[in-house]
Amino acid sequence: MITVHGLLGRPSDELRADAADADWVVGGRRHLDTIGVPAGQRIVLGGLQAAIEQVRALPESARIVVVASGDPLYFGVVRALRAAGLRPAVVPAVSSIAAAFAAVGLPWDDAAVVSVHGRPLEPAVELARTVGKAAVFTSPEHGIRELAAGLAGLDRWFVLAERLGEPDEQVRVLTAGQAAQAEPRQPNVVLILDRHPDSPDAPWPGSVAGPANPSHHPTSGGQQ
Ligand SMILES: C[S@@+](CC[C@H](N)C(=O)[O-])C[C@H]1O[C@@H](n2cnc3c(N)ncnc32)[C@H](O)[C@@H]1O
Repeated sequence: MITVHGLLGRPSDELRADAADADWVVGGRRHLDTIGVPAGQRIVLGGLQAAIEQVRALPESARIVVVASGDPLYFGVVRALRAAGLRPAVVPAVSSIAAAFAAVGLPWDDAAVVSVHGRPLEPAVELARTVGKAAVFTSPEHGIRELAAGLAGLDRWFVLAERLGEPDEQVRVLTAGQAAQAEPRQPNVVLILDRHPDSPDAPWPGSVAGPANPSHHPTSGGQQ
């Protein structure tokens, strides 16, 4: 039995109890330390594929807990586990993107989200050029400075949300010039906005997600 728990900040009682009962707990060293997993019970994540192979080699009866950041269903480990033929139970936490938007009090049902974690930077720059609200999962190589450089000359505000949920969490609203000079701490996410978070919101575009619109409901007789 494999259960994937999301974690952002303090571990829940449910996660602590599941980890204490597990035969093996898989996760990054930072997460395993936070939960206090004993050495003999740990599978420390280096490469994800190597950890997946280790998990697959365990007996089916083994109770395995995987700890992953934020929402493991959103740009997270569950996709890779499923691709390996595994079907874990999932207990999600709040995604770091949701936490970053919450920190500045902005709705994000109109945001476009992209990851440059182990991926090229250019699609994220292109996206932030074309939408007014973009959110980026960063990496040490592709972070706020590189994003700001790619968007030079464009009128954008940046929100740098570092180490969300940790005691040293920091969320800063930066101009493009400040973003280009920032020294970010890991991990972090970056929001790229066409207006300051305290400005009035753009009208909701109605094309991404949001409250049900009865006139679009197939059974309401409205246009589809
Ligand atoms: C593989 S993605 C996992 C995202 C995760 N599923 C989520 O919903 O937040 C890893 C990226 O998430 C972001 N991240 C994870 N934990 C974070 C934290 N505590 N604070 C800020 N960003 C975080 C970073 O951009 C990091 O590179």
